[in-house]
Amino acid sequence: MRSYEEAFSPYWHPVAYSHELKERPLAARLLGTELVVWRTGSGVSATQRYCAHRGADLCAGDVVGEGLRCAFHGWTYGQDGRCVRIPSQPGAPIPSGAALRSFHAAERYGLIWVCLAPQPAAPLPHWPELEDGSAATVALPRLDWNISAGRMVEIVLDVTHLSWVHRGTFGNPEQQEVPPYEVERRPDGLRAQITYPALAPGLEGAPPKVDKTMLTYEVVFPFAARLAFKPTLFFKHTVFAIASPWSEEKMQCFYFASYHPGLRMFPDIFVKSELAILEQDRLVAEAQRPRAHPLDFSGEVHVRADRLPIEYRRGVIALRLGRPVDAPVPG
Ligand code: FES
Ligand SMILES: [Fe+2]
Repeated sequence: MRSYEEAFSPYWHPVAYSHELKERPLAARLLGTELVVWRTGSGVSATQRYCAHRGADLCAGDVVGEGLRCAFHGWTYGQDGRCVRIPSQPGAPIPSGAALRSFHAAERYGLIWVCLAPQPAAPLPHWPELEDGSAATVALPRLDWNISAGRMVEIVLDVTHLSWVHRGTFGNPEQQEVPPYEVERRPDGLRAQITYPALAPGLEGAPPKVDKTMLTYEVVFPFAARLAFKPTLFFKHTVFAIASPWSEEKMQCFYFASYHPGLRMFPDIFVKSELAILEQDRLVAEAQRPRAHPLDFSGEVHVRADRLPIEYRRGVIALRLGRPVDAPVPG
């Protein structure tokens, strides 16, 4: 079994929304590593957060033409992390150890992504509709929850909890049975489709209306989920939830939706209703034990209706074992 950090370091994870990274360097955290990210002339850069000279916090530094300049003594680092300037001795050679650990960094889909390993094991998720100009997006503030990234994805994929946890938002307490559904295993993830009779709140005191909604779930391992909502009453939209692991027991989730750009009122409705829905999830998820995503099925009992989160967990266990995600796991 590989360690948590070893298993997930070779994947890309979001560490910030693009709109959070302005002209100042920004602190980030991923799999136990403290990072600083900043905008270079040509893209984004991610390095260790603390200066190689005497450990100052580079988030307090400045982005200058040559790179990132520490505020303590002005040492300046290029985007590959190597020190390019030591102002206290301008003529002397720069010591070879004067470098920051630097990591792969990319900006895509409104997010800053980082991969800590020397070689990424997989490309970024493929979400062309976010780049072809056909959709607008609206993001929630980062969800800062004390749960594991794997448990976060499982709750996004959990079909059965809708009628229980989401009572009062969109859950339909009349619909407790989950009809059988198929889960397609893909080389990089999973796909499943169900229809759920969500409850849309009635206007002006009218009783809630059933909004038959087709839900299409797509997972890209290890921690990205895309969830397309095709309701009959409410607006068609797609939710993207990407959990970014800080440690085995703590994550932040980047959560946003794409929608038709003509729906001007969508962002307000989405943010308000989604925050209420996610608060219902958070209360349950933060209280789950163990906090770490279980590495086997021995401590919990699953049934057929849990098929999608189970298949997801199988894939995550495969990654921890260093196996392909679509291969069967012994036991
Ligand atoms: S600690 Fe950063 S330049 Fe000295
Ligand atoms: Fe939920």
